[in-house]
Amino acid sequence: MQVDLTTEYLGLMLRNPVIVAACPLTRETHRLEQLEQAGAAAAVMYSLFAEQVESDRLRQVGQQNLRSTNREFPLPSDYVVGLDEYLKNIELAKKSVGIPIIGSLNGGEMGDWMRFASLIEQAGADALELNVYFVPTDASMTGAQVEERYLEIVSAVRAQVKIPLTVKLGPFFSSLPNMAARLSAEGINGLVLFNRFLQPDVDIDTLEVSPRLTLSTRDALRLPLRWIAILRSQVRLSLAASSGAHCAEDVAKLVLAGADVVSLASVLLRHGPGTVTAIIDDLVAYMRGKEFASIADMRGLIQRQPGHDSTAFERANYVKTIITYDEQAPQ
Ligand SMILES: Cc1cc2nc3c(=O)[nH]c(=O)nc-3n(C[C@H](O)[C@H](O)[C@H](O)COP(=O)(O)O)c2cc1C
Repeated sequence: MQVDLTTEYLGLMLRNPVIVAACPLTRETHRLEQLEQAGAAAAVMYSLFAEQVESDRLRQVGQQNLRSTNREFPLPSDYVVGLDEYLKNIELAKKSVGIPIIGSLNGGEMGDWMRFASLIEQAGADALELNVYFVPTDASMTGAQVEERYLEIVSAVRAQVKIPLTVKLGPFFSSLPNMAARLSAEGINGLVLFNRFLQPDVDIDTLEVSPRLTLSTRDALRLPLRWIAILRSQVRLSLAASSGAHCAEDVAKLVLAGADVVSLASVLLRHGPGTVTAIIDDLVAYMRGKEFASIADMRGLIQRQPGHDSTAFERANYVKTIITYDEQAPQ
């Protein structure tokens, strides 16, 4: 049985729903070539950080910390690069591979960095992923003000580019559906759910706070799974899942919940670009087994089930999960 794996993401027609998330693998052309050969349908470049553009602070401090805290996959020493190199890498990526290349811009407050969105567009990126990474720490800042800040940044970046724009968010909003609808009204084309907030750790020997970048486990999948299922029918945006997808089963779950694409970082960093081939082969086998002729047939299927109501579903599932906890069950 033939299965059609194609999917549309940000107006781009992709050969399948497996894409590479922003991570060090998209930093090097030969890795991108390997990922394309393995079957990845698109790649998000590692981010250009606002801090790089506006000061040299990250180059001196962040890079050091990132490198020393990620033992499983040490970051290349030049992961954090300047604007010129970033743009050159996009041009190079576009020349080296045929799959869509999505630029990534990362910032948390209004600033000069936002104008680099148009340079990323000029460098040839097929789309732009805007990662708004902002953790409110000031008790006088209200939730509404936090949301306004996101909307202001997104609106300013939207004005800079004509290419499709997707926004990578964290999950910590009082009403994510409302936030998604308001972001959609700013003219964005998609959402990436979710940004992984790096949780700092405490070093009990040095008594210092130490940043820790750990690769994800499959447990992280539940968060995008839930929110993609809730958002799918409420926003007319492309939805990319990010966090905890490690195998074909995970990709299938996220597509069934409503994802247009599933992006992978940790599993590829751990096991290499070839993992994409295995995931796609297993996905095809699953689809054949279930007689799904296409990704379009699968997408969002769980909410097309008769009587599905996301609010009731959430509350009912919450209660059911707690009361049916089984101490004897294997974890
Ligand atoms: C080593 C590493 C570097 C990353 N660099 C970036 C980055 O530059 N920009 C970004 O938006 N996300 C970055 N991420 C986050 C990933 O794009 C992805 O959202 C996250 O790792 C969750 O997906 P996963 O569970 O497949 O790892 C990075 C993740 C890792 C592990």
